[in-house]
Amino acid sequence: MTDIPAAARQAVLQARHLVVFTGAGVSAESGVHTFRDALTGLWARFDPMQLATPEAFRRDPALVWGWYEWRRQLLLGVEPNPAHRVIAALEQRLPRVTLITQNVDDLHERAGSRKVLHLHGSIFTPRCFDCEHPYKFEGAPAMAAEQPLEPPRCSSCNGRVRPGVVWFGEALPEGALTAAFSAAEDCDCLLSIGTSGLVQPAAQIPEVAAQAGATVIHVNPEAVAVHSANQYSLQGPAGRILPLLLADD
Ligand code: OAD
Repeated sequence: MTDIPAAARQAVLQARHLVVFTGAGVSAESGVHTFRDALTGLWARFDPMQLATPEAFRRDPALVWGWYEWRRQLLLGVEPNPAHRVIAALEQRLPRVTLITQNVDDLHERAGSRKVLHLHGSIFTPRCFDCEHPYKFEGAPAMAAEQPLEPPRCSSCNGRVRPGVVWFGEALPEGALTAAFSAAEDCDCLLSIGTSGLVQPAAQIPEVAAQAGATVIHVNPEAVAVHSANQYSLQGPAGRILPLLLADD
């Protein structure tokens, strides 16, 4: 069993303002694919340049829409795991928690987290590619596997509907980005869970908090290199490590 250093546990449980920053790894134990894990990550099987850019959508909207609909269908069939639930419990218990996620799923919300800053958008909030008019899903997609599917048309301008996620080369939602960076500056503890820390600008968030003097705790099955006394790397799956923060308490 991984020992949680007492100072790390205390930093979380006594935080005045805790920031929780999550990536795909927090949903891995729910059965959601990560992006960069060797073999199982989505980007090991699919080319992001063919699926996750505005150019890709212009070139082949059915390929892109079908791929996201396949992912939406998978998400509709999974449940939050203990890591999502501990994060929601921390929100109940601490004076202030800001939850920032790079994930496009809704598992934090389904676990009970009330306010989630979705830096990379949400797969559940599609909009028109041309006029940005929101589109409402009706029911679940009937996908046998990842396969091309013509996107629906916008009820306002007849443009093609696109997934509500942030693609490579696109700006992050301004409000969420500003709130995330100001929370990182303000917090006294930041938990960074299940992210490879490779995608900018989100990847700077733990460093911004560390530079501002916060205790930064990484939770990941892979060891995360830490460079200062106020950073910890807790090695293991989030669904096992996070409940230990609240154990015997
Ligand atoms: P990655 O796939 O890059 O990284 C997932 C991380 O989760 C890795 O460091 C894994 O070691 C770790 N991991 C795997 N299983 C875990 C578990 N059970 N518990 C904890 N950690 C685990 O995913 P992100 O860092 O989220 O962008 O990727 C960032 C962005 O790149 C995504 O938001 C997406 C992608 O392209 C967009 O879609 C815009």
